[in-house]
Amino acid sequence: MNEDDIITLAIESSCDETACAILKNGREVLSNVISTQIETHKKFGGVVPEVASRKHVENIDIVVQEALDRAGIGFEDISHIAVTYGPGLVGALLVGLSYAKALAFTLKIPLVGVNHIEGHLSANYIEHKSLKPPFITLIVSGGHTHLVEVKDYGDYEIIGKTKDDASGEAFDKIARAMNLGYPGGPIVDRMAKNGNPNAIDFPRACLNDPGYDFSFSGLKSSVLNYLNSMKMKNLDIVEEDVCASFQNAVVDVLSQKTIRAALDKKYSTVALSGGVAANSALRYKFEQICKDNNLELRYPPLVLCTDNAAMIGCAGYYRYINGRRDGMELNAIPNLKINQY
Ligand code: KG4
Ligand code: ZN
Repeated sequence: MNEDDIITLAIESSCDETACAILKNGREVLSNVISTQIETHKKFGGVVPEVASRKHVENIDIVVQEALDRAGIGFEDISHIAVTYGPGLVGALLVGLSYAKALAFTLKIPLVGVNHIEGHLSANYIEHKSLKPPFITLIVSGGHTHLVEVKDYGDYEIIGKTKDDASGEAFDKIARAMNLGYPGGPIVDRMAKNGNPNAIDFPRACLNDPGYDFSFSGLKSSVLNYLNSMKMKNLDIVEEDVCASFQNAVVDVLSQKTIRAALDKKYSTVALSGGVAANSALRYKFEQICKDNNLELRYPPLVLCTDNAAMIGCAGYYRYINGRRDGMELNAIPNLKINQY
């Protein structure tokens, strides 16, 4: 390590992952520790906020120590703390934020608040060392579906978003309706591999509307209606076909709208991020469609798609070198917007 290296300790606790990462100069990950609570929440079919907060309290100390150990550094080597302060579950956010404040105060080093969605898009900077703004990015997760123009580091314009359910939420809800398990995205992805994506003609909302907004609640209702009507008629449901056809509808809308926006706005690079960017059909479709339209495609490896602290550290590093500093009054903002400071 050189004396002028910037070492970031990042903390993420916005939902059901307690995570800490150490980064060198923003893009080099020295450690990335994620303690997931999926097993705890599985039996409830979704995240229980109060339980999530308590689990964060139990885990955070261990996760931070593990991140330092794996990076082979001590608290004295850290230049600044980066922490998610929104959007997310307020109780969950407050655990990471309070811990980060206490660390920054004790170590007398700067505290930098990070927007979780900005974290997701920043995961691409870690994986693709030469990636820099401008580019257009689709951020698809359990809580968000955003199409964003990245004009510069920290300079974003949201040009499209979901009017109702997030795309990941739709995956989770239809999986729940078929009792497939939680979280639904990876399960639907796996089952869809053995299904026919054209078996059922589910709606593609907003596909031909002007603008770049999305809507997934109609699609979700249409899947639920299909399942109910099949049950009423005593007909067999081929779950693999339902998964493949549903996924095909989601992927069609996300890919076509994103590419249209990229071409309209004359971007040459498209980046994907968030939990749903782990979806194999989505990645495949984007590979094809970007190739056909001469666009560069970037997406993070699976571990950086779903919630992690490395992405928060990367976003925090750019905020830090651009002068952002937060005080002990920094509060959790559950509905923080990506272009809100
Ligand atoms: O980014 P993330 O970990 O958390 C949020 O910030 O929301 O995203 C979690 C979401 C869940 O809805 C999960 O079902 C979905 O990402 N997901 C997937 C896949 N892996 C995770 N959705 C579709 N296909 C996948 N392979
Ligand atoms: Zn997330």
